[in-house]
Amino acid sequence: MPRARSQKSEALHRPAEGWQGWDDYADFYDWENAQTLDRRDVKFWQNMARRAGGPVLELGCGTGRVTVPVARTGARIVGVDRSGEMLAHAHRRTRRARLEGRVSWVRSDIRSLPFLSSTRFDLVMAPYGILQSLVREADLKATLDSVARVLAPRGVFGLDLVPDLPVWKEYRNKVRFRGSRGASDSRITLVESVRQDRARRLTIFDQEFVERRGAAKRVRTFSLVFRTLSVPQMRSRLERAGFRVTAVLGDYKGKSWDPRADVWLILAEKC
Ligand SMILES: C[S@@+](CC[C@H](N)C(=O)[O-])C[C@H]1O[C@@H](n2cnc3c(N)ncnc32)[C@H](O)[C@@H]1O
Repeated sequence: MPRARSQKSEALHRPAEGWQGWDDYADFYDWENAQTLDRRDVKFWQNMARRAGGPVLELGCGTGRVTVPVARTGARIVGVDRSGEMLAHAHRRTRRARLEGRVSWVRSDIRSLPFLSSTRFDLVMAPYGILQSLVREADLKATLDSVARVLAPRGVFGLDLVPDLPVWKEYRNKVRFRGSRGASDSRITLVESVRQDRARRLTIFDQEFVERRGAAKRVRTFSLVFRTLSVPQMRSRLERAGFRVTAVLGDYKGKSWDPRADVWLILAEKC
């Protein structure tokens, strides 16, 4: 179990960057996700890709949870992620789905997308809070500028924010999930602590995954940090970066957003 930390060591412990921690999380990401968001958003992104009718880019594609189902619709899709371990899972998922050739994986940072100046995407999608991994205003601005450069003239930029992070109560060393994985006899326990740095709008998750198989025990400990802006704040950042917001949705079926919605989806185009 993570030991209780003093306030001083907690400040030091906060990961400085939102891209850190994901390599260590990679082996457990799909297992935990199956118990939280699961596939609730997948159809929405598949429909967006069908409507776009051209090349799709996913920012922070992770293990390919959304990328691969979107590729199944026939779309050509590029997934960008900074974590080599998350991308290793994505490669395996593509092979299992026999979709090699339809998906390209690029290891890179979304703050400076590595595409030729002639490359354009009809849909750029940012599912499941990836923009909340940008923990400074300058990181968000760099990413929005980068997206504006690669989005086709009538293309759509869709982003999904995880709404409840700033209102999570802080807790320490709570068993969040316990369960088995796959057909193996492996048992996993997730022990989690949550800290809020309200001045900087940051939520920090300290996670410890304990995996037991027979007498063998493996422990992974890491921290992830997220920065959450409200919908109006994100809207104004998009407008400042040269986007026009075309819709704000409060669920994955198209309902309009309101401040109590448990989904925060924003669609935008370039002005
Ligand atoms: C919440 S996961 C989202 C994964 C996937 N889109 C999904 O919906 O399941 C966030 C992913 O973003 C990646 N990431 C975070 N910051 C990044 C950055 N600055 N550049 C590229 N990838 C980043 C992480 O490595 C991680 O795989």
